[in-house]
Amino acid sequence: MSLSKSKSNTNAHSSLVTDHAESEVSLSAVEKDANHMLIQASIQDSATSDEVDFVHDAVLLPETVAAVLGVKSLPTQAEGNDQNCLNMSGIYVDATFGRGGHSRLLLSQLADDAKLIVFDKDPTAISVAQELASKDSRVHVVHDSFATLTTSLAALGITQVDGLMADLGISSPQIDDGSRGFSFMRDGAVDMRMDTSRGQSVAEWLEYVDEETLANVLYEFGEERHSRRIARAIKQMESYDSTLALAEVIKVAHPNWQRGKHPATQSFQAMRIFINNELGDVDDFLAQSIPLLKVGGQLAVISFHSLEDRRIKQFLQRHSKGQYPEDENLPMPPKRPRYFSKPKRVGPSKTETSRNPRARSAWLRMATRTDSDYVIDDAP
Ligand SMILES: C[S@@+](CC[C@H](N)C(=O)[O-])C[C@H]1O[C@@H](n2cnc3c(N)ncnc32)[C@H](O)[C@@H]1O
Repeated sequence: MSLSKSKSNTNAHSSLVTDHAESEVSLSAVEKDANHMLIQASIQDSATSDEVDFVHDAVLLPETVAAVLGVKSLPTQAEGNDQNCLNMSGIYVDATFGRGGHSRLLLSQLADDAKLIVFDKDPTAISVAQELASKDSRVHVVHDSFATLTTSLAALGITQVDGLMADLGISSPQIDDGSRGFSFMRDGAVDMRMDTSRGQSVAEWLEYVDEETLANVLYEFGEERHSRRIARAIKQMESYDSTLALAEVIKVAHPNWQRGKHPATQSFQAMRIFINNELGDVDDFLAQSIPLLKVGGQLAVISFHSLEDRRIKQFLQRHSKGQYPEDENLPMPPKRPRYFSKPKRVGPSKTETSRNPRARSAWLRMATRTDSDYVIDDAP
């Protein structure tokens, strides 16, 4: 499998941007960017040349690591400054290792007795993680979905953690490698699985799915308004062995192109989200965070489109208010425990988005686990 150096791909993350009405991070844009550059340099210094080849430009990097550690900001990573490590003990999880940008910065802030459990579905991400684990005994690697959080941690003898972070979606190396099938700009098999070791590819699914179900997937997971006519055109194709051919069929069927956006953007996103069960996995992950986080433990999740961000927002709203109607037309149910406090949303600085356009649609949501005991069967 060939992998190229990280390049930003604005198409994959530019759609479905959410509203910008909530609280912003306290650091100024200039401070954030200066901090980020120093941190990025220190991460690259500590990676091997092979790993640097796989670098994915981690989004909202210091903000996410500070959030999962429960601190306002990280110490400046200035050269020669030996006060740059918070030396935190505890057990932390990076649910989406990717190329380890967030993990490496987190490790730089952890004490020798701390543990970091990293998850990824992607076999290439896992081999990078295993290389890191072979050099750093604090790192433990799980090749599985973060939806298996509780059972995978239990298999390592862990029942509670101090911090959970996730950076959802796909990584730049996954997009850049045409053979993975995520890109409508590079030719490859119509695969789109994050975990190529199991499950069915999009091509296999397209062979048997009926037109109506396909249209529903394009509408539900891509918010594609022209889902019906695109589904009809896709089902008329003779084979599904080329992403460029698929993208071309979608382009021809799409009646309403938006400037600066490939007409296959939303359809590709929809098929990818469906085949990887992305939203179901996020729901499972969030639900498990409640019993898994220790009192005072931190949840930090980055999302790139409103389908995910809305879920995270509603989850944190429900569990920080402690009272919520399942249906707005119904009367308020009795009070429920407040599992989280201080929910907050943070966006990228202008400087980050100009350096890394992929960060444009990113939002980080964070919250602190309260001391409310978890009520089993309390539907999240
Ligand atoms: C945006 S990248 C993470 C980049 C990472 N933070 C870094 O700094 O390199 C998302 C990663 O999450 C992985 N992923 C997505 N959904 C997953 C899931 N349900 N379980 C485990 N890994 C998943 C993808 O394979 C990808 O490597």
